[in-house]
Amino acid sequence: MPVDLDALAERLRDRVEGVVQRAAPLARLTTYRLGGPAAVLVEPADLAALEEAARVLSAEVGAVPVLVLGRGSNTVVSDEGWPGVVVRLTEAWSRITPVLETGSALEVGSAKALPLVANWAARRGLSGLEWSIGVPGSVGGAVRMNAGAHGSDMSSCVESVKVLDLDALLFEEWDEARLGFSYRHSEVTDRHVVLSAVLRLTPEDEESVRARMESYRRHRAATQPGALQNAGSTFKNPPGDSAGRLVDAAGLKGFRVGGASVSEKHANFFMAGPQARAQDVFDLVHEVRRRVFEAFSVWLEPEVRFVGAFATDRVEVADS
Ligand code: EPU
Repeated sequence: MPVDLDALAERLRDRVEGVVQRAAPLARLTTYRLGGPAAVLVEPADLAALEEAARVLSAEVGAVPVLVLGRGSNTVVSDEGWPGVVVRLTEAWSRITPVLETGSALEVGSAKALPLVANWAARRGLSGLEWSIGVPGSVGGAVRMNAGAHGSDMSSCVESVKVLDLDALLFEEWDEARLGFSYRHSEVTDRHVVLSAVLRLTPEDEESVRARMESYRRHRAATQPGALQNAGSTFKNPPGDSAGRLVDAAGLKGFRVGGASVSEKHANFFMAGPQARAQDVFDLVHEVRRRVFEAFSVWLEPEVRFVGAFATDRVEVADS
C-alpha cells in the first residue's frame, strides 16, 4: 500500500522539533537552482530531533526514500522532485570547535560550508584546507564524496567522522579505515547522516596559508565559471587524464541540450541557463559521455549526483 505522505508529515510534525514541510521546493537548496519539490522536507532543530526523525522514518524503510541533502552543490534534483523525505541539517550542525588537547585539530559540524572552515583555519594559522576555498559544499557532503581540488582532498585531513546510521539507529564514530576514502568516494551512503568531522590541520604562519588560498582562488576564477547554475566538475577525472580536457578535445565546449550547455570556460562544468530543466542537464551529461566515448574510447563517470526520476531515452540534440 502506498505510504500516506500527509500522514507521515503529520507524524514528523508531532514528534520532531524543527522544520517539517510538505511539497518543499528544493531548487533553492541547490547550486543548480533546478528541480521540483521534496514530498517532505525535515530540518531537525537538534540532535534529539534528528534521532526522533530517524525513528519515525525507520518505520517506513523500503517505502519512503530518504535523501540527505547538504548544500546541494553536487546535486541535480529531478524536475518531478524527490518522492520521499529530504533530511537537511542546519544551524545546530554549523559549529567549529577546536579540539583542545591538540591545538591544531577542529571538530566541524556537517552543515558548515567548507570555505568558511578554510577561512576560520587560516585566521588561526592552520594549514590543510586551502584547497577547499572555492568548493561550495558542506562538510558532510564533502566527507561523503571525498571532495577535493588542487591535488588534495578531504581524506588528507579528516581524522574521524560522527555519523547517524539510519538503519541501525545508532550514533557511530568512523575512523579512517571505516571511511574508506578513495578518489571522490567514501563508504558513507544514503543510509548515513554525517553529523561532524574532526579535521587535523598543521600550524603554519597565517600569511603563507592565505597566500596559498589566494592562488587557488585566482586559478579557479581564471579557469572555472563560478559556483552558480552548475555543480562543479560534472565527471570524475579518468585515471591519468582530465574529463575537462577530453570534453574540450571532443569539440563540445558550448554544446547544448535544451537550456543546458557545456561551459565555454571549463568543459567539465555544465551550465543551466534560465530556461533549463533538470532533464536537460541529465540529457547533456549522457550525450557528452556518448560523444567522448566515440571520440576517445573513454567512458566518463559522473561526479554530479542525479536524484529523483529522470527519463533515460530523451536526448534530442540541436547540433550547433
Ligand atoms: N582543460 C582543457 N579544457 C577545459 C578544461 C581543462 O583542456 O575546458 C585541461 C587544462 O588545460 C588542464 C587539465 O585539463 O591541462 C586539467 O584542468 P584543471 O586544472 O581545470 O583541473 P580539472 O582536472 O579539470 C580538477 C577538479 C576540480 C578542481 C580542479 C582544480 C575533478 C573532477 N575536478 O579539475 O574540482 O577545482 O581540479 O584543482 O577532480 C569539482 O570536483 O567539482 C571540482 C571543481
